[in-house]
Amino acid sequence: MVQIKALILSGGKGTRLRPITFTSAKQLVPVANKPILFYGLEAVREAGIVDVGIVVGDTADEVRKAVGSGEQFGLKVDYIPQEAPLGLAHAVKIAKDYMRDEPFVMYLGDNLLKNGIRSFVSEFADGKCDAQILLARVPNPSEFGVAEIEEGRVVGLEEKPKKPKSDYALVGVYMFTNSIFEAVEQIKPSWRNELEITDAIQYLIDKGFVVNSHIVEGWWKDTGKLEDILDANHMILAELTARLDSEPGKGSEIHGNVQTGKKVNIEGSVLRGPCIIGDGASIIDSYIGPFTSIGPNTQVIRSEVENSIILEECTIKDIGSRIGNSLIGRNVTVAKTVRPPKSYEFMVGDNSNIIIL
Ligand code: TTP
Repeated sequence: MVQIKALILSGGKGTRLRPITFTSAKQLVPVANKPILFYGLEAVREAGIVDVGIVVGDTADEVRKAVGSGEQFGLKVDYIPQEAPLGLAHAVKIAKDYMRDEPFVMYLGDNLLKNGIRSFVSEFADGKCDAQILLARVPNPSEFGVAEIEEGRVVGLEEKPKKPKSDYALVGVYMFTNSIFEAVEQIKPSWRNELEITDAIQYLIDKGFVVNSHIVEGWWKDTGKLEDILDANHMILAELTARLDSEPGKGSEIHGNVQTGKKVNIEGSVLRGPCIIGDGASIIDSYIGPFTSIGPNTQVIRSEVENSIILEECTIKDIGSRIGNSLIGRNVTVAKTVRPPKSYEFMVGDNSNIIIL
């Protein structure tokens, strides 16, 4: 069997996730307290791949710091800097030297697949096709690359079409042989000035290369926007096993599958799983509801939170109503005013979104 490498894309603009992406890579947003990118790295390793090239952009330093040499995942990681987010096919283009004409898996660093990619990679490794794509049915195909299918074969691909020809979206995992390098040289930038991977695969189809497709069973999520990150958090936490590294203190109750990290202080609170509480967090006189991830060293005091992700070092204090469906960045304070005049006081970054009662 040929040795297959992986190309993981962790650059990009992340405009749909501002303001989080003003200060941090979207691929490093934690889902169930683990960066999204790490799920991809684990999926790649589980498929038997060791050599990984990670495409990085403006957030290169942060990604390098988090992933390092890849040793913690059993991987050998090299970094491929992309001068600007010029498209998925551009990322392939700049990876040519690293791939050395060998077949590879391209994995978008913000995608999550429940059942991993092992079966797809082993089928591809048999060498029966020039490229292999994964498809999943979605209710909103015009937000994705969409495949046109005739008699079970992909005959066309379109990026974010206004009138989609099917509801089969392209999942962010692709398998290519070196034919893709010819394709990315031939295509032209799209209206949004990106080299589109859909155009490159369309080139392969038009030139008679064999492009196979598979339907993904089990859930798949492209976590490019808030609601998708919350969905991903929901899906991962739904399979959480209970584990208490810190026991709840006096007057507290724990129901369902809850994980607590080390040195977590829980007093007078109800935790209803599935939820996960990071190391060093404090939950005091509060309610943490289902599908909630609380980051390390975050404090929740006299407040209620559910179906949300709160990153590390935050303070949530005396909030009269329940916080839900929220993604709160690092080192954020949300607190009730303690003295008159009673006013809402905000210090929030550009493109923030605040909904009040
Ligand atoms: P996208 O989510 O399609 O693009 P984006 O990250 O620029 O986000 P937005 O549309 O909200 O501005 O990218 C999919 C993945 O590929 C993601 O992990 C970022 C990565 N990527 C690159 O590494 N280089 C690129 O040139 C592009 C376009 C994306």
